Amino acid sequence: MKKLWEGRFAKATDKLLEKFNASITFDKRLYKEDIKGSIAHSKMLSKQGIIMEKEQKNIEKGLLQIKEEIEKGIFEFKIEDEDIHMAIEKRLTEIIGETAGKLHTARSRNDQVALDIRMYAMEEAREIKKLLINMEKTIIDMSEKYKSVIIPGYTHLQRAQPILFSHYLMAYFQMFKRDISRIEDFLGRTDEMPLGAGALAGTTFNIDRHFTASELAFSKPTENSLDSVSDRDFIIELCFIISMISMHLSRFSEEIIIWCSSEFSFLTPDDAFSTGSSIMPQKKNPDIPELIRGKTGRIYGNLISLLTTMKALPLAYNKDMQEDKESIFDSIDTIKISIEIFYKMLSTLKVNKEKILTSMKKGFLNATDVADYLAKKNIPFRKAHKISGKIVSYCEDKNIDIEEMTLEEFKNFSDMFENDIFNEITLKNCVNKRNSYGGTSYENIKMQIKKGKKYIENIE
Ligand code: ARG
Repeated sequence: MKKLWEGRFAKATDKLLEKFNASITFDKRLYKEDIKGSIAHSKMLSKQGIIMEKEQKNIEKGLLQIKEEIEKGIFEFKIEDEDIHMAIEKRLTEIIGETAGKLHTARSRNDQVALDIRMYAMEEAREIKKLLINMEKTIIDMSEKYKSVIIPGYTHLQRAQPILFSHYLMAYFQMFKRDISRIEDFLGRTDEMPLGAGALAGTTFNIDRHFTASELAFSKPTENSLDSVSDRDFIIELCFIISMISMHLSRFSEEIIIWCSSEFSFLTPDDAFSTGSSIMPQKKNPDIPELIRGKTGRIYGNLISLLTTMKALPLAYNKDMQEDKESIFDSIDTIKISIEIFYKMLSTLKVNKEKILTSMKKGFLNATDVADYLAKKNIPFRKAHKISGKIVSYCEDKNIDIEEMTLEEFKNFSDMFENDIFNEITLKNCVNKRNSYGGTSYENIKMQIKKGKKYIENIE
């Protein structure tokens, strides 16, 4: 089998090396970017008089035919072709003959792959952003649907203070909003076109990199040819953003898993989004959030793997960098399906209002409000805290909730207590009094949802 680079070689490549060296099995997914980049490059070559217009037309036609062949599934990917770049060029030679050999003028596979993977990463980042927007919409819908539901808020996974379920959901809205903004930053920073850097030092041909950049919808060409072919920061950065999204999803998943357990039963998963057990007929397992939580490990692994691959690489291109692809492809595929299935599952979750309400009994979630009540009557907060603590301990002994005490009982702890204490410590009031900016009150949540909707409208 002839190689495109065989000129200086006297012997054929060892079969094992061929297999070891090849990236075609996975980089074939860059075919679209590769063809797009090659067409832009050929147009630039023709505009600059480096190849003839007729030759450019031929090249472009051939490349479009290859694209069609790949999309129809009739293109033959061969290990001997090593990678997608050479596979396409070889096929181009078969289709249009010697002219195909002109396409690689003023270009190297080093800047070619840097361009392809960059375009691919940017396109996928845009897709991930779209999925995150769907996630945000689902969160808003759920927040509105369950706007009156109060749940226990936790710290240390101990019942702390009552909060609105929608306040809880909207916390995730904020996390995904930051993820979206990270993607936007990433897209801005990555918007530089590396083709024309050549193997490492630029080229002797009179190329127009600004033209190629604008053909490919980049704002500008990269500044330094060495950096252009050896930079994989953007891949690592995208891997990091994906890791962060995954971490957010995993935290969300953890709560769903716990809340779907019979011990909690705050939520019931929809049949379409849960699985059964092959041995225990009663089981309904939350496989989706569990898998999302589990996949986070692999996604972090991809990030660490990329950082490690890059850590000691001398400038400029080194073959180590071929290892960037499987990690980033895997992270992208994994996060895309995870986000999509997560928001679909989320929208079908049933919230068990009654069960949640009973769970709040004996939780003393209003103990802070008892302390706040006294502090508002000018008792120093530390002292008020102590009194409220004593009340909790008293109630624990009597096996009652704070609001079940009589006014006389309250007065035994402080004569500042009056009849209005009962109104102060209802769950609803505990929530609605937390009206400080960003707090859980119904008024605040209404504002959060309103702002959230506006954000989504403007981002699309
Ligand atoms: N398949 C290679 C990669 O993914 C393309 C660049 C190869 N360049 C080279 N000089 N061998 O990195």
